[in-house]
Parts: sequence; C-alpha cells; structure tokens
Amino acid sequence: MYMTRKKVVTVVGTRPNFMKMGPILGALAGRPEEFDSTLVHTGQHYDAAMSDVFFEELGIGAPDYSLDVGSGSHAQQTACVMQRLEPVLEQEQPDYVLIPGDVNSTLAAALVASKMGIPVAHVEAGLRSFDRSMPEEINRLLCDRVADLLFTHSPEAEEYLVSEGCDPAAIHYVGNTMIDTLVALRSRIDAEGGISRRGLEPGGYMLVTLHRPALVDTPLLAAVMEELYELAGEMRVLFPAHPRTRAAIQDLGLPLDMPGLDVTDPMGYLEFLHLLSGATAVLTDSGGIQEEATYLGVPCLTLRDNTERPVTVSMGTNMLLGLRPDRVTEVPTLVDAIQARPAKLPPLWDGNAANRIVEVLAGAKDLAPTAPAA
Ligand code: UD1
Repeated sequence: MYMTRKKVVTVVGTRPNFMKMGPILGALAGRPEEFDSTLVHTGQHYDAAMSDVFFEELGIGAPDYSLDVGSGSHAQQTACVMQRLEPVLEQEQPDYVLIPGDVNSTLAAALVASKMGIPVAHVEAGLRSFDRSMPEEINRLLCDRVADLLFTHSPEAEEYLVSEGCDPAAIHYVGNTMIDTLVALRSRIDAEGGISRRGLEPGGYMLVTLHRPALVDTPLLAAVMEELYELAGEMRVLFPAHPRTRAAIQDLGLPLDMPGLDVTDPMGYLEFLHLLSGATAVLTDSGGIQEEATYLGVPCLTLRDNTERPVTVSMGTNMLLGLRPDRVTEVPTLVDAIQARPAKLPPLWDGNAANRIVEVLAGAKDLAPTAPAA
C-alpha cells in the first residue's frame, strides 16, 4: 500500500526540552518509512553546558536548523523565535509541529505554526500552577489553546484541558517522556561516578538548583544563600547553578564557596541525574526535577508556593516549602517525614511515552490545516 510519510518538525530551545524530546526524536527516527523528522533548535539556551552537552549525552543528532535567538526580554525572545521559525516552516511545510513544555520557544513555535495552519502537537499539555505571575503558566495556557494534539502525563491534566474548552478527542494520556530518557540512560547514570569523584557519600549531601525569577531576581536569593551557608555546617551542599543564578549571587557580593557548600557550573544530564539519585534530598524550584526525584524516590523540597506537577506531591516524593527560605532549616526533619510516607509512580511513567506519542501521530488523521497559510 502506498503511504505518504508524515513530516514532523520538532522545536526545542532550552535544557529541559532536550530530555523531553530526545526519546520522541529517537522513536520517529526508528520509523523512517512513516516519518520524516526535522529538528529546529531555537538557541534560547546556547552555552555549551546548557545545550551541547545534552545533545551529546542524549544522542540527539545536530539540529537541522539553528535559529540562534539567544537571550532577551520575553517579548524579544519570543518575537525572535517567531521571525526566524516562520521561514523554516514555510520551507518544510510539515504535517505537524511538535513542541515540548512551557518555555518561550514553545509558545513562539505554537503561535507561528497555528497561524500558518499547521497542526500543533503539545507534549506535556495540561500542566497548571494557576499562577499567572509565572511566565511559563502563560505559555502553557496559550500553547494548549492552539494545539491540535495534547499529550499529557499528569492525571489531572485532562480535566483542566476540558474545562478550558479543549476537545477531549485531542487529549492523549501517554506518560512522561522525560522519564523515558531517565529509563533509557539509567545504567549510564548509575555508572557516571560523580558522587565519588566529588568526594561525596551516597545519602550524605543535598543537591540544590534554583533559577526562577520569583527567587533569583528578588531579595529571597540572599536569604536562601544565608540558609544554605548555615545548612552546609550540618551536611554537604552541592549547588549546580544556572548561569543567571550564579551571576545574581555574584552581583549580591555573596560567596560561591563556603565550607561544606560548592556552587558549581551547570552539569550535564548524566552527572546531574547521578548526583540526584544519590542525594539525601534535592532543594529546587525546577519543574522537571520534581518529576525525576519522584521517579528516583529521592525527597524533593520545592521552594515555590505552587506546583504545576501536583502528582509529585500526592503520589511522589515532593513537598512544597513555599517561597520561604526560612524553611531550609527544617530540611533534615522534612526529609524524614517524606521518607516515612508511601510513594508510588504516576501511571505510565514507564519509559514508553515516546512510543505512545509516535503511535498517536502515526494514526492521527483529519488534522487538516485549520486556517489558510498567509
Ligand atoms: C528558561 C525557561 C524556564 C525553564 C528554564 C530551564 C522561559 C520563560 N523560561 O528559563 O521555564 O525552566 O529555561 O532552564 O522560557 N543564560 C545563559 N546561558 C544560556 C541561557 C541563558 O547565560 O545558555 C542566561 C542569560 O543571562 C539569560 C538568562 O540566563 O538572559 C535567562 O535565560 P532564559 O532562557 O531567558 O530563561 P531561563 O531562566 O533559562
């Protein structure tokens, strides 16, 4: 039977996008008779430690298009992706544009594709923090509103999407592609060796990551650092810092290294996951780390007032501290409390989400353009 290959353009831009889309790119490449897959990297993250290392470790081939947008205000960054992506989509004329998560690159791609009448498939649809002061929440709402296929991995997502008017037939609970990456690379993660290389003991240190504006761009950062200097007297603290976090700490004139505390450069995927798997706990404001910690059974203390990933609290190892640096002193007690409660994995966080997504894409029909291309 004659079959036309479906053309899929995947758009990534930031560090967590790579872990979410790597398995899907692999699954698409594994079905070459059905799919023609093209990768666009917007360049929202561009430092080698924020981008290249992930392509290497996750085995993602070089992008077909690099848009090199770099940093800027939200409007500048989003607009720049839009301007540079439009000619790529004009050239490629894909059947779908596949977008992950909630970063500015994701929203930009959703807007460009939907206005060109190209069906949009959103991976990690339906997450909601209900906090519109987070730029990501705006991005999530708008991406889901224009997407034609909504791939979810969180049990409450479908209810939110339907309540916002999304078509239930467009929603597919597929599991978590970020966990696919973890499952696929588990033996390399376990063998990475960073715990001993850094002179640490499994279960004898706390990992810290902080990068959100609500914390890093406010006086709360100095308060957290003071708490970490204190905590480092009790247990080793390892803090791989996003470049903007490192710059903010330095701008405050605060030290990056104190006895018991190391603020390091950002880490690659394998080293970070190795260190996460052996940590006493992780203190973070990241979204993805809440999920990875739940998968690994590592207590996660989230320094935010809310989470768009409530399943990591209700079923997993996550606990919301609030945007409250003073609560860092409670960490040892809270870790015991998390360890004492039962935890299990959310449904389908099993390493096969990408295959389910590709199966849906293969079967999806009737996704004809909804608007004429300009
Ligand atoms: C972005 C996402 C955030 C995600 C995070 C993952 C948005 C709105 N935010 O935040 O949701 O959790 O990525 O890491 O899209 N910088 C570098 N090198 C880089 C990239 C950035 O030094 O490779 C610095 C620049 O000073 C830049 C700043 O970090 O201005 C912020 O980068 P940006 O991509 O705007 O946001 P993130 O904080 O990384």
